[in-house]
Amino acid sequence: MPHKIAFIGFGTVGQGLVEVIRQQGPMLSSTLGFEARIVAVFTPRKGSLYHPDGLDAGQLLDVVHNSGTFAEYLDTPGLERGWDALKIIRESNADTIVEVSPTDIQTGQPAIDYCRAAFASGKNVVTANKGPVALAYEELSNLAKAKGVRFGIEGTVMSGTPALRLPLTSLAGADLIEIRGILNGTTNYILTQMEAEQDYDTALAQAQQLGYAETDPTADVEGFDVVAKIVILAKVLLGVPLTAADVSRQGISRLTPADIAQAKAAGKRWKLIGRLKNEGSWVSASVAPAMVPLADPLAHVSGATNAITYFTKLLGEVTLVGAGAGAIETGYSLLIDLINIDRSNI
Ligand code: HSE
Repeated sequence: MPHKIAFIGFGTVGQGLVEVIRQQGPMLSSTLGFEARIVAVFTPRKGSLYHPDGLDAGQLLDVVHNSGTFAEYLDTPGLERGWDALKIIRESNADTIVEVSPTDIQTGQPAIDYCRAAFASGKNVVTANKGPVALAYEELSNLAKAKGVRFGIEGTVMSGTPALRLPLTSLAGADLIEIRGILNGTTNYILTQMEAEQDYDTALAQAQQLGYAETDPTADVEGFDVVAKIVILAKVLLGVPLTAADVSRQGISRLTPADIAQAKAAGKRWKLIGRLKNEGSWVSASVAPAMVPLADPLAHVSGATNAITYFTKLLGEVTLVGAGAGAIETGYSLLIDLINIDRSNI
């Protein structure tokens, strides 16, 4: 049976998932028996489409690329236009809402309300949106559980790289003591470019152009994005209800070319490090630039790539390196959540 999905939001990440479905559909069907059927798309600016029998992935991408809206999507019998987000969430025949509306890490809205409505309607949610997970993970995961549906959040940390699913499944019981990671692609890209003697502003502009940066890149360069990811890691992996206020924060905007040269001379590299440590009766959490020695695997992670080291009691250190941002990479995070919903896995 096809997995019916409705998109709330259709920016870089949503289009990334549709591109993945368009390119990889036959492979997913033949190797996994997985088939996604897009039944609805909604954004406040591009408009909305709903067809209970499915929309065409290629045509959706083409009309958005050509005109920036869904207006030119061809009419077919049964096609509805103009449904708002909540009507699609409540009344469409989707199994799962793909919640990819813009991230607001201050309020989590409107995504939190979309997730609440989806769970109340008995629908799963998959999302790469950090706001609702950093701010309302406990409430939303409890609502999903109560309704017997699923809340897929892999893409909120390190895009499709399994920074959440790997420790939850394959490191279960290993006794996680500490986590340290490079969790923001934009800042790691800027730091890498600065080491190659590019100036900060040009490197930031490139990171924006490549689609890594948040709409307001202050969230990246001042560390707010990593704070949200550290809060998510604390809640999901350690079961500790941290808030952003519990995480000390410093970004990279004050690092100068002289600082970069000083690290190089000392055989080190600047990295923006997010850290969580189980201190026994409490958990310490921070985001700050650090001069990392070359012996540390994190020192060798360059460009927009992310990495996370899990320090465990039973297995020692395990480091996961992979994509942390990007349209296809984050689109894939939504796909792997959909596949695992069908498999009834985490
Ligand atoms: N702006 C984020 C980054 C996107 O640069 O890592 C992925 O969360």
